Amino acid sequence: MIKIDANTDIYCILGFPVRHSKSPLMHNKAFEILGVNACYVAFEVRPEDLTDAIKSIRALGIKGANITIPFKEDVIPLLDSISDEARDIGAVNTIKNDDGILRGFNTDGVGFIASLKENLINPKGLKVLVLGAGGASRAIVYSLIKEGAHVYISNRTMQKAILLCNQMRQFSTSIQTLDINDTGARDTISDVSLIVNTTSLGLKPDDLLPIPITYLNKQHIVCDIIYKKTPLLKEASRLGIKTIDGSGMLLHQGVIAFEIWTGLQPPVDEMRKQLEIS
Ligand code: ATR
Repeated sequence: MIKIDANTDIYCILGFPVRHSKSPLMHNKAFEILGVNACYVAFEVRPEDLTDAIKSIRALGIKGANITIPFKEDVIPLLDSISDEARDIGAVNTIKNDDGILRGFNTDGVGFIASLKENLINPKGLKVLVLGAGGASRAIVYSLIKEGAHVYISNRTMQKAILLCNQMRQFSTSIQTLDINDTGARDTISDVSLIVNTTSLGLKPDDLLPIPITYLNKQHIVCDIIYKKTPLLKEASRLGIKTIDGSGMLLHQGVIAFEIWTGLQPPVDEMRKQLEIS
């Protein structure tokens, strides 16, 4: 247990809702193991209170924060600076408080790539289908193209996929849209190696699949950024297809955030254990 005293540093996550978050468990375990006098708490912030919440990071001297749904984009104008990566992605999930100067970072994309590499998947040259064109998709698409993958983006609202694709073209030309309902889409999909679901389909156990199951084959690796076994992952596993859930991305975005805040190498395996047992 962390011994809280008058010198304990505070880190936090701001979100709405946030009570399901596993981040406090993994970061507090890391502080405890490294003997850092700090603790990490969750604050449920109503959207109308975001500006006040960010001001209180400065006022209370909170050392660092994670930002989650629905604030990753809205928080940007409230910060003093953001990293190039966070600017290119258009979202911040990590804030470091440097003596009152709030700096924004995005560790989601790099965390996603780290979880792929941990599964011995090198994105370079890989054909990847990304389902969804929302906030979570942006970080993943950006990091995949930066790693040299060829990305297809599909989305229920194709206009949003086109917009995202056009924005990301400045970083790589290896990116295009794909409407999975088009004739011929199935052939293109049969040729990709990795399928990544970034849509919210799968959060609820009775959600529909984001892609017809008949489009999947054993050459695919199916990935979800939701950190429980979604209907998509369950169906794919049933067909003998390799699957990766979102727990690795959650872990690694947290590991990178911890390094940004403290400059220390956190105990990754112990943090992973916290995610598994919770
Ligand atoms: P996040 O920050 O988690 O990405 P978001 O920005 O609201 O959240 O994006 C949600 C994504 O899930 C979008 O790609 C959305 O598709 P639309 O752009 O068409 O809204 C997708 N999504 C949500 N509900 C969906 C559903 N029922 N069927 C298909 N896609 C869905």
